Amino acid sequence: MKATAKAHVNIALIKYWGKKDIELNLPLTSSLSFTLDKFYTKTTVHYKKELIEDQLYIDQRYITGPEYERVTKYLSKIRQMYNIPYYAMIESENYVPKKAGVASSSSAFAALALAATRAYGIDLSEKELSSLARLGSGSAARSIYGGFAFWNEGYDHLSSYAEPFNGFEDMAVLVCMVDDREKKISSRDAMLELTKNEENKNDWIENTNDFIEQIKEAFINDDFDTVGGIAESHAMLMHYYMQEDGIDYLTDQSFKIIDLTEKLRGQGFPVYATMDAGPNVKILTKKEYIKDVIGSYEKLAKVTVCYKGEGAKIIW
Ligand code: PMV
Repeated sequence: MKATAKAHVNIALIKYWGKKDIELNLPLTSSLSFTLDKFYTKTTVHYKKELIEDQLYIDQRYITGPEYERVTKYLSKIRQMYNIPYYAMIESENYVPKKAGVASSSSAFAALALAATRAYGIDLSEKELSSLARLGSGSAARSIYGGFAFWNEGYDHLSSYAEPFNGFEDMAVLVCMVDDREKKISSRDAMLELTKNEENKNDWIENTNDFIEQIKEAFINDDFDTVGGIAESHAMLMHYYMQEDGIDYLTDQSFKIIDLTEKLRGQGFPVYATMDAGPNVKILTKKEYIKDVIGSYEKLAKVTVCYKGEGAKIIW
């Protein structure tokens, strides 16, 4: 009746932004990510007969309000799907700044999906687990896997899941933290704006689908510069549509890091920037170039060097 799972954060090279089904968390398009080793969530789910409601602790704090509601609603869905008759004590530890655009919900819901099923003896395939994690937070579908993952948009619950994707073994990501405070608008709320404008929504879908074709081809050709270039352009496109909706996550400091990245590229270093729903910038590069570029980034931000992280797993 008890299990602890660990799952790592993932960073998207092709972003998930906008839903075609809000209840099921079906995305407007497929997306592609890389799971990071340094940032993760550890979650214990303990079903107890005597509980009359779920209890949630995050980083040793007792949680009530909207954060609690989101988790208990998600667990209720799992209880209903797998006939689990008990409430649970949920304890979660985050080794990642929450809600600062470092994708903490990806690791959180991947770990929760795994712990909540295994605590009741339910052993799902990775594919089923990915669909289940998606119901909690879209990006969590990809954190089931280590390394690169491709999330197929799908058309219903079971067809919308992520799977492993073959990519560069020497991939590295410099996470440049310019601000680790909680963001004002959650990505969940912000991305709903896109679907309110039919024209922007359709343009986003069309462009993203083109980028997906191109990036897949670049992976096949082992062409890191094209992969990085597409990832950077796609992130910029997402931020363009966010701005169209009046949402601005990037700060002057973010732009300084983006400018530095362009400058370093001019000097021949393969570095590419990507940003999510927050001001922090992640630099996609390869292991061998870190020593050449890290000093410049450290002048502008607190930098964490990340490599390939593992997929979600049970730790006890
Ligand atoms: O999984 P959510 O609802 O937190 O959305 C994640 C959205 C982005 O991080 C901005 C993009 C992505 O694909 O991870």
